Amino acid sequence: MQIGIIGAGKVGRTVAGHFANAGHDVAISNSRGPESLEDAATDLGSNVHAATVEDAAAFGRVVLEAIPFGEYETLPAEELAGKTVISASNYYPDRDGDIDFDGRTHTELIADHLEESRVMKAFNTMHHDTLREESRPDEDLSDRLVVFLAGDDALAKATVADLIEDAGFAPVDMGRLTNGHLMEPGARIYDEPMTLTEAEALLEHLTF
Ligand SMILES: NC(=O)c1ccc[n+]([C@@H]2O[C@H](COP(=O)([O-])OP(=O)(O)OC[C@H]3O[C@@H](n4cnc5c(N)ncnc54)[C@H](OP(=O)(O)O)[C@@H]3O)[C@@H](O)[C@H]2O)c1
Repeated sequence: MQIGIIGAGKVGRTVAGHFANAGHDVAISNSRGPESLEDAATDLGSNVHAATVEDAAAFGRVVLEAIPFGEYETLPAEELAGKTVISASNYYPDRDGDIDFDGRTHTELIADHLEESRVMKAFNTMHHDTLREESRPDEDLSDRLVVFLAGDDALAKATVADLIEDAGFAPVDMGRLTNGHLMEPGARIYDEPMTLTEAEALLEHLTF
């Protein structure tokens, strides 16, 4: 599958590498332009190329955004229309500034901005070191760490769940995007590496 990555920092590059290892064609992009990413793309594999943000968005059938949340309004809504967008960003007020959420989660704000995209929340709860080092694509799902996902579109969710498996993790569905607050900084599952069995036991005690 063709996958675009917007934000090629610690998270974006790590996930891009896992997708490339699984055989996907990946376009990576950042704020400074493709020239700054040529070496990174070469290191990640022959099926990875550097692109502008708009070209990465247009390239991917699925596009992962891993940028500071405060930048979300720069995500190119036109190029992302009709696509599945995985949001891996988190809101940190010290970095992103004060934002009026009006009772919505930050991923819902991204979904409002990308109103013609199918926005899914995933890959945001795991520290980038864990994400890089604990990928186990050759193990059974029960022997992998979990990556949580949430979203409102069943087909998009199935696609993202498959990509989480390709990346070497076990997908765990947290339900609709409104449940995204259960995956945000400070939540019980945030930055808490766990197996499928541990996640299922924990989720029994969480209120949805
Ligand atoms: N670090 C973690 O362990 C972790 C784990 C889960 C989720 N997250 C979340 O994931 C997001 C990325 O975190 P990170 O640690 O990977 O950050 P990072 O290493 O600082 O990388 C951020 C990337 O986003 C790019 N970027 C910034 N503004 C952009 C824009 N307007 N358009 C396109 N690209 C832009 C940067 O490009 P330039 O380099 O050209 O500026 C850089 O490639 C954050 O929201 C973070 O909270 C982080």
